[in-house]
This record gives sequence, C-alpha cells and structure tokens, in this order.
Amino acid sequence: MTAGQTHRVLVAIPMFESVLARLQAVFDLDAPCAADRHIDWTPQTLAERLQGCAGLLLAATPRVDAALLDACPELRAVCSMAVGYNNIDLDACTARGVLVTNAPDVLTETTADFGFALMMATARRISEAEHYLRAGRWTHWSYDFFAGADVHGTTLGVLGMGRIGQAIARRAALGFGMPVIYHNRSRLDPAVEQQLGARWVSKDDLLRQADHLVIVVPYSPASHHMVAAAELALMKPGATLTNIARGGVVDDAALAAALRQRTIAAAGLDVFEGEPAVHPELLGLPNVVLTPHIASASGPTRRAMADLAATNLIAALGLGPTPGRPLTPLNPQVLAAAGD
Ligand code: DGY
Repeated sequence: MTAGQTHRVLVAIPMFESVLARLQAVFDLDAPCAADRHIDWTPQTLAERLQGCAGLLLAATPRVDAALLDACPELRAVCSMAVGYNNIDLDACTARGVLVTNAPDVLTETTADFGFALMMATARRISEAEHYLRAGRWTHWSYDFFAGADVHGTTLGVLGMGRIGQAIARRAALGFGMPVIYHNRSRLDPAVEQQLGARWVSKDDLLRQADHLVIVVPYSPASHHMVAAAELALMKPGATLTNIARGGVVDDAALAAALRQRTIAAAGLDVFEGEPAVHPELLGLPNVVLTPHIASASGPTRRAMADLAATNLIAALGLGPTPGRPLTPLNPQVLAAAGD
C-alpha cells in the first residue's frame, strides 16, 4: 500500500450502523449486508467479494479456510465478533501471516445468563407449558400439571470450564445453592475451584452425577460428538442437558433418540449440527427447548462484541490508537513475525 491509499475491508455480516460508520471513516468499506440483510455466502461468492480486501469482519459464519485464503492473497486480517472461532482455520491463517482476532470476555456474563435461563426453562418445562397455554388447552389444574425438575440444590455439571462455564458455575453456587462438578481438559487452579465451590470429575462421572448438564466446551475435531449415544446412556433418567457451545459437540440424532425414549428428561439447545437446519426429530419433541443461537444476544453485549471486532480490525491493519496491536489476537505470533 502506498501513502494516501486506504485498505479495502469487507464486513460479511449485518452490522450496527455506528460500527459501519467507524470503519467507513478509516477504510474503503464494502458492507453488502448493511444493517439487516443476511447473505448466504458460498466459498465462491465470498472469495469473489474479498478480492482486493485486506480485512474481513465476520462472526460465527462464514467459513474461512485454506482454499479461501489462497484465493484472496491480499487478506491480512480476519476479525470475528464471536468468541467461538471454529469457522476459521487458525493454522491456515497463521501459516499465511493472516492475523485472526475473536471477541472474548465482553459476552461472558450475557452468555452465562442465557445458559442458566435455558437450563431453567428446560428443567421447569417453560416452553412446553407456554405452547400448551397458547394453544388454548388450559382448562384445568392438576397436582402434576407440568411438573418438572428442581434446579436449586441439585447438582450442576459443567462440561468445559472456561470463562462462560465459570460464570454459570458462579450463578449456580451462589444463587441456587447447587453443588458444582465440572470436567475440563485442564483443572482449574485450586483457589478458583474453591471460590466457585466446583469439583473436577472425570467426564463419565460428570455425566453420571449431574442433574443438569450444561455444555460450554469449544468446538474442535477433538470435541466432535463429545456427547453421543454412549455418553447420554450414562446420564440420570431425570437429568437435563443444555448445549450453548456449538453444534457438533452433541450428536443431535442420538440426543433426539434419548429424549424420545426419555432416557434423559429434557434438553435445551441453542446450537445445532448443521444450523440453521435443526434435526427434524428435535422439532417434533415436547421435551426440548430450542433457540436460534442467541446466547450472546443482548443489545449491549452484541454492540460490545461488534465494537471490539471493529477496534481489532482497525488496529490489525495498522490504524487507530493502537496500530498493530489488536486487543484480542488469536495468533499473536503473526504480529511478532510482522515486527521482525
Ligand atoms: C460466540 O460468540 O461464539 C457465540 O456463539 C455467537 O456466535
């Protein structure tokens, strides 16, 4: 780039007007979705649109892989407003010197609120009861009318004890008097365990002992179908499963079978294998609460996520108050190499 030229960047997702204005002030901006238009990118349409672009702003979609990077050699920065980045091939980006950033921290508490709410709605059959009422079927009361499972005082199992898992554990322990058990590749510092009142157990023990299992583990080839038929078979018949992690961590077909056969009581799902498609059997089951990947969707949090992604993009392309120093890089070695 020569002096006076501005970088071209593509915002591939619908975006706040104020964030687009920030980006427009410093970049040659291509924002085909503007504020509200979703584009179903194919690898080809995305590669075509990215020609000549140095930066890309996205979220949990679209996909960025080696083939796309090879087709777009001018791309220098991929900045996501999501915390999960399984749609981005980080190794392929690093190998090509493309900086990747995500948006951790700003969504932790909001996502934990939602995970807890979904777990409670699942245990207390809130969606099922609401559908019943809206359908005009409420004519009587009975002692077992929509009787569900208790949440307070029961055992919470957290699979994946990162920032969001810990925020859920805090809510459970402090607000609901729940003993918390967790499974994670690495154990928390004992002081943090003590603060959360959380106890590490093996994955099998987690599945066997939890009354309410909440899944918050990032998606990777290693976590693919981490909860499938064999794992579901270990769970208590009265247990619930809540997935706010990523589709693919749970085997949705096996889960649908377990819910149909009532080998577990209920599930709350915000993420799905192959979303936005949902396993057809799940759609027909009463004992599952289904939401369209909205765990981080509070107004202020979505704004904070978008602002962080924009700040990262501006810094990653050498502009703004911290040029060359994005706040939340995933592959900072690219920055170090560029500074050599
Ligand atoms: C995230 O940030 O990863 C949320 O799941 C939204 O995509």
